Amino acid sequence: MDRMVTLAHKFLEEVLSYGDTAVDLTAGGGWDTLFLAERTGVRGRVFAFDIQSAAIARTHSLLAAKGVNAVSLRGTEAGLTDGGVFLVNDDHQKIRSYVQEKVQGAIANLGYLPGGDKSILTGAETTLSCLRDTLSLLAPGGRMAVIAYVGHGGGPREAEAVSSFFEELPSTRWGTMKVAMMNRKAAPILLIAEKV
Ligand SMILES: C[S@@+](CC[C@H](N)C(=O)[O-])C[C@H]1O[C@@H](n2cnc3c(N)ncnc32)[C@H](O)[C@@H]1O
Repeated sequence: MDRMVTLAHKFLEEVLSYGDTAVDLTAGGGWDTLFLAERTGVRGRVFAFDIQSAAIARTHSLLAAKGVNAVSLRGTEAGLTDGGVFLVNDDHQKIRSYVQEKVQGAIANLGYLPGGDKSILTGAETTLSCLRDTLSLLAPGGRMAVIAYVGHGGGPREAEAVSSFFEELPSTRWGTMKVAMMNRKAAPILLIAEKV
């Protein structure tokens, strides 16, 4: 059975094309950023956020090893004309300060950096604030995928908060979906929102 991350990529792959703009809200080890960069190509733009410089450094190294160029972005993207991967070492709640264009696909792989500092992790309130802002940037037909983990302290509360948020999105404007393992209660869940 596919892992939730693989499933998330499949759902995003269906709506991402060469030249699109995509966002990774939690760059971490860089695997989701790499996936988005490969789908959107050299003409596309990928904005990858992480609050930890160690994660941004890991993402940068992974991309470099795979032959993908990335640059650090320290302020608003106004005036950006080129494609590329833009690494943002900042809180994803500030997404609107960096991204002002329509986004076709976004991913948030929540929790902490595997092998990193487990005290730096996403939380229910900050995650909801960033997801709200990300949805406001989605283009019609665009999708946002969220992978929420229930195996750590604040995980169940965060997963519950994100599930409720997706449940309450108006069906006239959003299609939402939840994927969960029925016989493994501690497995991560995947939530998808698609803008009608
Ligand atoms: C599970 S990891 C992401 C995995 C990653 N997408 C990958 O492909 O390897 C979660 C990341 O979220 C980051 N994070 C936690 N809170 C954040 C925040 N408020 N803004 C941005 N990043 C945050 C952590 O630093 C951590 O690197």
